[in-house]
Amino acid sequence: METREGRAVQKKYSVPLTLAGAGAATFGYASVIERNWFRLRRFDVPVLAPGRPPVKILHISDAHLTPGRSRLIRWVRSLEALEPDLVVNTGDTLSHRDAIPAFLDALGPLLERPGVFVYGSNDLFSPVLKNPLRYVWRTSKSDYAKTKREPDLPYRELGSSLQAAGWLDLNNRIGRLKVGELDIEFGGINDSHIDLDRYDKIAGPVDPQADVHLGVMHSPEPRNLDRFTADGYDLLLAGHTHGGQVCVPFYGALATNCGIDRPRVKGLHRHRGSWLHVSAGLGTSPKAPIRFCCPPEASLLTLVPR
Ligand SMILES: [Fe+2]
Repeated sequence: METREGRAVQKKYSVPLTLAGAGAATFGYASVIERNWFRLRRFDVPVLAPGRPPVKILHISDAHLTPGRSRLIRWVRSLEALEPDLVVNTGDTLSHRDAIPAFLDALGPLLERPGVFVYGSNDLFSPVLKNPLRYVWRTSKSDYAKTKREPDLPYRELGSSLQAAGWLDLNNRIGRLKVGELDIEFGGINDSHIDLDRYDKIAGPVDPQADVHLGVMHSPEPRNLDRFTADGYDLLLAGHTHGGQVCVPFYGALATNCGIDRPRVKGLHRHRGSWLHVSAGLGTSPKAPIRFCCPPEASLLTLVPR
């Protein structure tokens, strides 16, 4: 028989229990469903001279790969069907010391296409447990400054494997590739999030003889974006932000984890005279395995005449 005391206890705990249930359901959705709900985003970027044929660039970033992420691996492998002319990987590829074979497996036939890459901080340092919401009040840059850790992930082996397939290492380097009928000049920098960017090594005006000029970096830090733009790069490609990773419906990202402003946390935007594409990335740190209102993605950027 229900008593007055019983009803009072039921009332006292029903709201907290409902909230806990909603929280558990949201976490389950964010970690199991949305984290594996991969999207392809498509953009046309008008950077070619009139009459030049379109070129398709597949932009991947922030895979944060561990060997067990079979859905991510299968989805990346399926992107070969897009027949991109060029693949650009803007870093944070690894989250495990044994992830390189899994990443090469994910790329599969994409590796035979022209490609370029830079590193992100997570290619050097294995993940540590962090509260993903702390990015709302500060970036993770200070974590690296404080710890003074030595790199413990095989980023050099990752680079060697990609270079063996003919991909260009753009960490503080200039590069050039014939892609389709286009002569493309690249300038790239290592990750500014851990102060490995050395723009001075690539500084200078782009070669006007090239058909198009691409700037490649992991973190879209405005001070570097400004320099790429001033040197004449047409399109800048970056990742790092995860699009905010945990977003608020009808509001968007709470933070960008770098100097870029929130409205440009992902997608195609202008940066002064250049185009800027920021990828929301394919993965998450395994220590923060959730995405909410910000599905994992790759982008197909079609360069078209202006
Ligand atoms: Fe990342």
